[in-house]
Amino acid sequence: MTNKRITVTAALPYANGPLHIGHIAGAYLPADIFVRYQRQQKRDVIFMSGSDEHGAAIMLRAKKEEISPREIIDKYHELNKETFERFGISFDMYHRTSEPIHHQTSQGFFTTLYEKGEFTELESEQYYDEEFQQFLADRYITGTCPVCSHPNAYGDQCENCGSSLSPTDLINPKSTLSGKVPVLKPTKHWYLPLDKYQPWLEEWLLEGKKGKWKTNVYGQCSSWLKAGLQPRAMTRDLDWGVDVPLPSTEGKKLYVWLDAPIGYISATKQWALDNGKDWELYWKQQPDEADNSRLIHFIGKDNIVFHCIIFPAILHTHGDYILPENVPANEFLNLEGRKLSTSRNWAVWLHEYLDELPDKQDELRYSLCSIMPETKDSEFTWKDYQAKNNNELVAILGNFVNRTLVLTQKYFDGLVPSRHKLQPIDEEALHQLQEIPNRVSTAIENFNFREAAAHMIDLARAGNKYLADTEPWKVIKADKMRVETILNISLQITASLSVISYPFLPFTSKKLQTMLNFQSTDWSTASANDLLAAGHMLEKPELLFQKIEDEWVEQQINKLHQEDAAKEKKEEPTSDIAPMKEEITYDDFVKLDMRVATILTAEKVKKSKKLLKMTLDTGLDQRTVLSGIAQHYEPEAIIGKQVCVLVNLAPRKMMGIESQGMILMAEDPDGTLLFMQPEGKISDGSGIS
Ligand code: MF3
Ligand code: ZN
Repeated sequence: MTNKRITVTAALPYANGPLHIGHIAGAYLPADIFVRYQRQQKRDVIFMSGSDEHGAAIMLRAKKEEISPREIIDKYHELNKETFERFGISFDMYHRTSEPIHHQTSQGFFTTLYEKGEFTELESEQYYDEEFQQFLADRYITGTCPVCSHPNAYGDQCENCGSSLSPTDLINPKSTLSGKVPVLKPTKHWYLPLDKYQPWLEEWLLEGKKGKWKTNVYGQCSSWLKAGLQPRAMTRDLDWGVDVPLPSTEGKKLYVWLDAPIGYISATKQWALDNGKDWELYWKQQPDEADNSRLIHFIGKDNIVFHCIIFPAILHTHGDYILPENVPANEFLNLEGRKLSTSRNWAVWLHEYLDELPDKQDELRYSLCSIMPETKDSEFTWKDYQAKNNNELVAILGNFVNRTLVLTQKYFDGLVPSRHKLQPIDEEALHQLQEIPNRVSTAIENFNFREAAAHMIDLARAGNKYLADTEPWKVIKADKMRVETILNISLQITASLSVISYPFLPFTSKKLQTMLNFQSTDWSTASANDLLAAGHMLEKPELLFQKIEDEWVEQQINKLHQEDAAKEKKEEPTSDIAPMKEEITYDDFVKLDMRVATILTAEKVKKSKKLLKMTLDTGLDQRTVLSGIAQHYEPEAIIGKQVCVLVNLAPRKMMGIESQGMILMAEDPDGTLLFMQPEGKISDGSGIS
């Protein structure tokens, strides 16, 4: 690529919770690798991100923690900003959408589009909570999913079956604020006519980006476009967000997905102010097209439509702005066989990892890079983390560097020895040194970060093989000059590793350069075979990586499961409630003949752990019924109890005994079983309806 300016953005995470490894592997780590590499190429690159501080995501969290939205965003903005820094994500600006400069910038966009007459004003009926006197954001309405009957679907989506919904689709809608049934009330909003931009999007995206964007990204965009775009409201009835800059619009805010991506631009404005730069060079079309910045958005797959369709349509319609050259979105990361979930606490939280292992940023960066969900969903496990650490960082990279530096100390007192006449094996090692950095480079430019990291490790692997084949520790006795050549070459490879590891392992690169007493990460030198001159003095070597033991891995896995179990008990007792069954008619219902009956005898069924055999007096007859309650009740304890029985159920044989009915029980998701009993004494055979 050329030396053009590059504007890199990474999705603004909501400031409503901490960051986990899924966020990192999805957007921030690939973006950071890309940006660090571009800086090494001495290109004019800026790296913008920040907190997304508006929208229902923030308000719901505030309600849950019972503090104000302002307190929520302050808390998580600080936490996340610091966590990114500790992890070495090297933003040039980590901004906030609550800043005045952002409110002005996003309002400016709205006003421009408004004045151009782009918006369609439309009045429609939306749900309103009369008790709280407010319109309800989609997430504030729950009800039964019309698709799968899950009782707790949200107004925009059912998390059980994944269907995308609108609030009026829900059966029995309920406001999560008051718990009451919301009413429909007319309200006015401003819609962006995405349908009108469809032809332009087909040309710019479907034709223009074919074969250039990743297939997972291009595919998602093309199915949106094939389905046909619909107008989308750019305003909401909310009391938290950016005010709509029009008269008489109290209680209306900009749609969070209008304001948030503009956050990249306001972040750049703030950065330019702080550093005496011109923000427009990074965002606006230049008189000479060839001088435009390259705009690249790093995001996770749930953000694709906003960055590939809606935001470009806004930039295009506004005019003057550049459009994304690429949007290398990643798929999702799973954790130990399950979907990452914030609400279920099934996650590895980055700040907790860093609290426990403050100096092991690179170990996590490396393992996440090696499994990055670049083309499909992938999985993080602590076992794999351990394997990547032990088998690659320790055994390949650490081992090569350590052997080279220790031998140099031992034989040459830490001075770089000279190179003499080369043998074919030396030529081959130098050839690898020349080639591999270019492979890393090409892979990074093409957003293939897994491949890039693998090439980087290949250079250390080549170094290890070179040492194993040349055996300087044996040759030293007979031919010290030969060893000078071998270690000189090994040291050049080590110096190159300190340069090419920098995007992936910035902390290790720095340590290594300290040991080499060498400071330059300039990429143009990565393939050089003379970074360290003969006679150059090295510092004392230290181990770069430590082996991780099995016990530690087990602890991490246990911790995950324990926290998950604790969370389940404490927070979401309702989440496992079975969804409602399919609707039945009254006629279906009256077919069930349910009666009160008394348990006359009860005994365990031989060879069955679960079954009790009972004789019941049903008022109609005395009959045998089997029930799977042996692990919950002792037989003696239930004799004489009155229970409810379905008496017209077709008989069934279990363990060779015929059961002539079914006792009604209530079952809690945690496994508790209880009899359904009449609340007072009533005659056996009484009908239940
Ligand atoms: N906050 C959004 C999310 O977490 C991402 C916003 S990205 C930006 O899904 F475009 F708004 F910046
Ligand atoms: Zn559903």
